[in-house]
Amino acid sequence: MHPHDRVARIVLPVGAAAVLTTVLIVGWVTQPDRFVVGYAPLQPIPFSHRLHAGDNKIPCLYCHTGAQRSRHAGVPALQTCMNCHAVTRMDRPAIQKLTALYKEGRPVEWRRVYLLPDHVYFDHRPHVNDGIACQTCHGEVQTMERVSRAMSLRMGNCLRCHRDPSAALPTGSKVVRGAENCYACHR
Ligand code: HEC
Ligand code: HEC
Ligand code: HEC
Ligand code: HEC
Ligand code: HEC
Repeated sequence: MHPHDRVARIVLPVGAAAVLTTVLIVGWVTQPDRFVVGYAPLQPIPFSHRLHAGDNKIPCLYCHTGAQRSRHAGVPALQTCMNCHAVTRMDRPAIQKLTALYKEGRPVEWRRVYLLPDHVYFDHRPHVNDGIACQTCHGEVQTMERVSRAMSLRMGNCLRCHRDPSAALPTGSKVVRGAENCYACHR
């Protein structure tokens, strides 16, 4: 074999394959945290959705009042917890920690599970007011002891539903599509 043939037929393809493999592995390993499904950070107070939204059937909107009225669903202020915990389960260590923070006027530093980068615009209102269930995007939160991310925050996930939202909408809905123009989500 001529030395040049050897470079063209073996060394180059093997080198190219090695470079490609490295790029793919590095890309996969370093992909942003917000893409990972199942991300479930430990919270400073072990708040259980299963106990509150499941067993005790407290409506999502009782605590996440913003979901229908503003861009952000919001996480409830301690005052909302104290509506009940000023009288309920006051002997429990977690509730005593909660009460101490409340008396000091300090918020609980909850860790975010769903957070888009600043260059993306999301608004809960058009979704919630069209009748799309919280569970479509967030999973069966009322069964979760600790909130675990159910949807990867990739652009493709938004667009897949925007192109055909029928499965997520209540029967009889007149909505046929969500926005696909860049400005809707990048403004
Ligand atoms: C169409 C998908 C979708 C639906 C439906 C939806 N959410 Fe969200 N939710 C998101 C996304 C995306 C984020 C991240 C938003 C951001 O970072 O700006 C989010 C964030 C949140 C947050 C974090 C705080 C905040 O406001 O950003 C809470 C709490 C929340 N959602 C609760 C709810 C509840 C309760 C419902 C039902 C009433 C609901 N969501 C319906 C997609 C959805
Ligand atoms: C509408 C009433 C109500 C509200 C509002 C409420 N809770 Fe509770 N919470 C309960 C009840 C009832 C239990 C006990 C459930 C059981 O043991 O079956 C409980 C249990 C708990 C526990 C478990 C205590 C233990 O160790 O047994 C924690 C922690 C907790 N709540 C935190 C919170 C936080 C944080 C908030 C605010 C975001 C909140 N709760 C809001 C009614 C409420
Ligand atoms: C008693 C108040 C309460 C109720 C009821 C409640 N939540 Fe929450 N929710 C919280 C608190 C406090 C947090 C922040 C701590 C955590 O992540 O567990 C939270 C966090 C979340 C998050 C993660 C937000 C983020 O990005 O960090 C989602 C999604 C969510 N709730 C959805 C729901 C849905 C859906 C329901 C109804 C099935 C619901 N919640 C009912 C208090 C409540
Ligand atoms: C499960 C389906 C579904 C998912 C997932 C979803 N959307 Fe939507 N979205 C819709 C529908 C349906 C509409 C149209 C609402 C209408 O026209 O009444 C909409 C509307 C919007 C609007 C309002 C557009 C306008 O014209 O003002 C924005 C912004 C938006 N979505 C952003 C997002 C982003 C960002 C994501 C991903 C993080 C996302 N959506 C995920 C179904 C979805
Ligand atoms: C329905 C909402 C939606 C629409 C419409 C949309 N995007 Fe996005 N876009 C997103 C979300 C969500 C992300 C965040 C993904 C991420 O974290 O990288 C994103 C990220 C991006 C990024 C950054 C990618 C990266 O790797 O960080 C670019 C560039 C982009 N979009 C361009 C566009 C262009 C161009 C259009 C119009 C053809 C468009 N987008 C339409 C939701 C949308």
